[in-house]
Amino acid sequence: MEDIKNITVLGAGAMGHGIAQLCAVAGYNVVIRDIEQKFLDDGLGKIKWSLGKLSEKGKISADAMKAALGRINTTTDLKESVKKCDFMVEAIPEVLKLKQDTFKEVDAAAPKQAILATNTSALSITEMAKVTKRPAQVVGMHFFNPPQMMRLVEVIYQPKTSKETAEITYQLAKKLGKEPVYCMKDIPGFLANRVMNPPGNFLAWLVSEKIFTPAEIDSTAHFKLGNPMGSFGLMDYVGIDVGYHVQKFFEEKEPPYKVAPILEELFKKKELGVKTGKGFYTYPDKTWKVPVEWSKDKAEKFDPLMSAFVAINRAAQIVADGVATAQDVDKAVQLGFNMPFGMLQLADMQGIDVCVQKLEELNKKYGKIDGLKAILEPHPILKKMVKEGKLGQKSKEGFYKY
Ligand SMILES: NC(=O)c1ccc[n+]([C@@H]2O[C@H](COP(=O)([O-])OP(=O)(O)OC[C@H]3O[C@@H](n4cnc5c(N)ncnc54)[C@H](O)[C@@H]3O)[C@@H](O)[C@H]2O)c1
Repeated sequence: MEDIKNITVLGAGAMGHGIAQLCAVAGYNVVIRDIEQKFLDDGLGKIKWSLGKLSEKGKISADAMKAALGRINTTTDLKESVKKCDFMVEAIPEVLKLKQDTFKEVDAAAPKQAILATNTSALSITEMAKVTKRPAQVVGMHFFNPPQMMRLVEVIYQPKTSKETAEITYQLAKKLGKEPVYCMKDIPGFLANRVMNPPGNFLAWLVSEKIFTPAEIDSTAHFKLGNPMGSFGLMDYVGIDVGYHVQKFFEEKEPPYKVAPILEELFKKKELGVKTGKGFYTYPDKTWKVPVEWSKDKAEKFDPLMSAFVAINRAAQIVADGVATAQDVDKAVQLGFNMPFGMLQLADMQGIDVCVQKLEELNKKYGKIDGLKAILEPHPILKKMVKEGKLGQKSKEGFYKY
């Protein structure tokens, strides 16, 4: 860790410029590489703007800001960018072939001891490691957007990642002011997205099957839980295309998981939410506002815990498969999705027996719907915990001890 002085960030886009900024503020010498000077100029401009804002708020002194900017160099030459690097973070577009070609070139040009990390959200880190001659030094380092603000970093092992590589990456994330977690296997969605994306698809299935309307589900979240946007309002805000691609990704990786038809339909009709003026709701001004369809009356039909049980089931699977500790899964969900608590803490609060019972009920009701059985069938670890009397807070032991 003490040997790490020079960091190369590949890509000056949404993620790359933010990661480079964090590294420079933490005192590292940074080289940013992009394919054209205009992208580098744009990224640097954003870093200056962001540091300026931090300085206005008194979070960084004018001297520290100047020093951080002075530690950043840019280049369009890949070989040149990694010539002296101790640690590389790749944040180029999400295309496996592009990333593999880049890893191959970096492997040939970077010092032998350098660690090569990828910020991919969804691609196989294993496949990136395979094209290098240093697979033990290839690791996932998954920041959340915007990296300057979001505290979570997932440190992901692929089968060949050494403990030393993962530990250095973890320590580096801490030095950047982040809260890292370990994901011990290269699995689809890693931790936070793996737990928190399927519940949204589940809700979209309930809408697709006309069991609930988006307004009924969101009104409950809004009026009963104080959630400002609700699930469908949030999907509209983020973009239906973004949500669709995430769910399509799980469909491809984990059959029989299936993207909800309503998402596919809206995506194909190009009704992508706020940005197109129409998605689950309409937005005549192309800005988000509370949909007129929401009402207190509609907040009485839907049980908001339904989707939480889906998330609990996913989180339980991660722990059962030895991918992460309960603490790390919960930390990832809390920090990645700004939740007040993690899903396994929630499971312990509800009672593990209640979670099993609720999932069984949901599975009985909705398990026949395409692909839903896979996420509704209570995971064996939950059933085992019930048998062993580990029921959560009420029995003083569940995923945590009390
Ligand atoms: N945006 C997010 O919310 C988010 C969150 C977490 C992870 N990620 C991941 O981070 C990575 C980057 O995403 P982004 O949103 O910053 O993308 P982006 O499109 O904003 O930026 C990518 C940048 O990489 C540059 N680039 C293209 N080819 C390159 C090459 N060969 N070498 C160097 N630079 C190259 C592009 O010119 C562009 O400036 C992706 O793998 C993405 O999945 C994104």
